[in-house]
Amino acid sequence: MTTPVRDLPLLFLGEGADPASERGVDCPGDLPPASDPALVERARAAKEALGDRVFVLGHHYQRDEVIQFADVTGDSFKLARQAAARPEAPYIVFCGVHFMAESADILTADHQSVVLPDLAAGCSMADMATFDQVEECWDVLEDAGIADGVVPVTYMNSSADIKAFVGRHGGTVCTSSNAKRALDWAYGKGEKVLFLPDQHLGRNTAVLEMGFALDDCVVYNPHRPDGGLTQKELRDAKMILWRGHCSVHGRFSKESVDEVRDRVPGVNVLVHPECRHEVVLGADLIGSTEYIIKTIEAAPSGSSWAVGTELNLVRRLANAHPDKNVMFLDKTVCFCSTMNRIDLPHLVRSLESLAAGEVVNRIQVDEETAHYARAALDQMLALPS
Ligand code: 13P
Ligand code: SF4
Repeated sequence: MTTPVRDLPLLFLGEGADPASERGVDCPGDLPPASDPALVERARAAKEALGDRVFVLGHHYQRDEVIQFADVTGDSFKLARQAAARPEAPYIVFCGVHFMAESADILTADHQSVVLPDLAAGCSMADMATFDQVEECWDVLEDAGIADGVVPVTYMNSSADIKAFVGRHGGTVCTSSNAKRALDWAYGKGEKVLFLPDQHLGRNTAVLEMGFALDDCVVYNPHRPDGGLTQKELRDAKMILWRGHCSVHGRFSKESVDEVRDRVPGVNVLVHPECRHEVVLGADLIGSTEYIIKTIEAAPSGSSWAVGTELNLVRRLANAHPDKNVMFLDKTVCFCSTMNRIDLPHLVRSLESLAAGEVVNRIQVDEETAHYARAALDQMLALPS
């Protein structure tokens, strides 16, 4: 079992240098500059001192002040691959959230340490599926007589415990870039899929990419006896979706799509598959963060884009493409509050500590969990492209 985040010491934004700079809490739509102008220089100096000994990974939802120090940026799939491809770096600093750092630890060698600059950078979606709940769900599937034909597939956005559960039961991890390939593989192996923990990615992929009917999917609610489902409903379903969602992408609504279409003539609506089904149905294009970036890059000058994903990425895209009209899909802004916890002070602390020979905030998955979780991650990496 991995150590739960809540038992680890928390580091607060703005602690030390400027306690008043609790950034990201109000979501005012704009982030104030880093509290200490010398921080950029300190981060640069510490990184330079570390040289090839450190490899900094930055997820697309990270703040600009952090992303500028990333050796590679990417979605969770690309970053997992990149972490696995750097055996020579003893230190991997993961600017992302806890489940990503866990995956990096699982995929890297024993002599490498993975550091998460703020241990409080969790993920509300990953927290919606606990190990005990998923074990209980499997018991329910066994009681219904269907467990033998069910292949578990978990989204990357899940704890190492859940990935290990999936590995133990012959399943795979997937990301928003390869969910269809993962489901094609899983249905070649079994009759049904238990999809964890994001019901929206599961439903959107099953219905829009696999040609399933909405009625082929049922939602297992871990807070209700037997998931709130009858044994007949479980037996009739092809896709058993876990009742989890992303608190950022879950905010977008059909109304936000209608509103932007009324307001901006000719606008293209581009959303992440973690959005609700009715939002995705109303969009023009759907894809992972890497897909969203490539689509905006390839778009013609003068075109308009309403993008339904995390604000740091949308704002960065808008700044990088001033010749295109790139806007946030919703009228009210929302950062991912946990992604946003990684700020420059935390990054500086990580880099300076490493340069001084001290590893702080190391993420380490215990060996047994790592063994089975690696099986599920390796299965994902081996999916046909
Ligand atoms: P991707 O990086 O797979 O697009 O996922 C988005 C996300 O919500 C990560 O937390
Ligand atoms: Fe989790 Fe959503 Fe934040 Fe991604 S954007 S880390 S899924 S809460």
